[in-house]
Amino acid sequence: AQDKINIAIDGPAGAGKSTIARMVAGRLSYVYVDTGAMYRAATWYFQKLGVSPDEVDKILQIVPDLDIDLLPGEHGQQVWVNGAEVTDEIRSLAVNAMVSRYAQIEGLRSRLVSLQRQMALRKGVVMDGRDIGTTVLPDAEVKIYMIASVEERAHRRYKEMKEHNQITFEQLVRDIAERDRLDQEREISPLRQATDAILMDTTEMTLDEVTERIVSLCRTYGSEREQR
Ligand code: CDP
Ligand code: CDP
Repeated sequence: AQDKINIAIDGPAGAGKSTIARMVAGRLSYVYVDTGAMYRAATWYFQKLGVSPDEVDKILQIVPDLDIDLLPGEHGQQVWVNGAEVTDEIRSLAVNAMVSRYAQIEGLRSRLVSLQRQMALRKGVVMDGRDIGTTVLPDAEVKIYMIASVEERAHRRYKEMKEHNQITFEQLVRDIAERDRLDQEREISPLRQATDAILMDTTEMTLDEVTERIVSLCRTYGSEREQR
């Protein structure tokens, strides 16, 4: 419909982006697009082929054949890469540890960015990632930059983990901080707050409070547009 908008949510790991984006999409009957899952799927695929992030030439040869799909499944979104379903595999420690390295490669980013823009052409999309408000959808009607303290973000991730013997809380804090550093310091579309994005610190907010706030920002945008 005419009145649909696009919503961009960016921020560091564990800020609550994907959980909130999914809840906002549910409330508005919009489509949720998890761009992090796309970088994770590409990472899984390169790791399966045994291609390291330093082998840029090899990666650029493979990129045109990368076929990544996000499909609605019975238990939430399904992630596919070149015919393999990798929904669970892309959350592994091996992918966590390397995804920000592969995500620095310009040729990979430009391919994924163009897929992401196509997904948002018809509006009604909630997209989360690192560069959505700055690069992928600079014209998104509502932009959120979501943050929380690194301890709170690691604590959230720790609670999610099923097997705590794999990694200590302290290691998790270090992993998240290192990924944030790589994402903020990379040359091509680094993690950064867009000048027109609204900053939300979710450290002490519940999921419902954050969702409510964003839905209400979208409603305000809609009613202001009607008055124009
Ligand atoms: O869920 P979590 O915050 O741990 O990460 P994610 O959203 O799944 O993204 C994983 C990684 O992909 C990030 O740390 C970035 O290195 C990269 N990424 C990116 O570069 N650009 C995006 N739009 C989304 C993710
Ligand atoms: O996508 P991103 O990495 O930004 O974060 P997430 O995966 O959506 O959130 C990480 C975890 O924190 C999830 O288990 C959320 O349910 C939880 N969370 C929370 O408890 N309170 C919030 N305000 C935001 C997230």
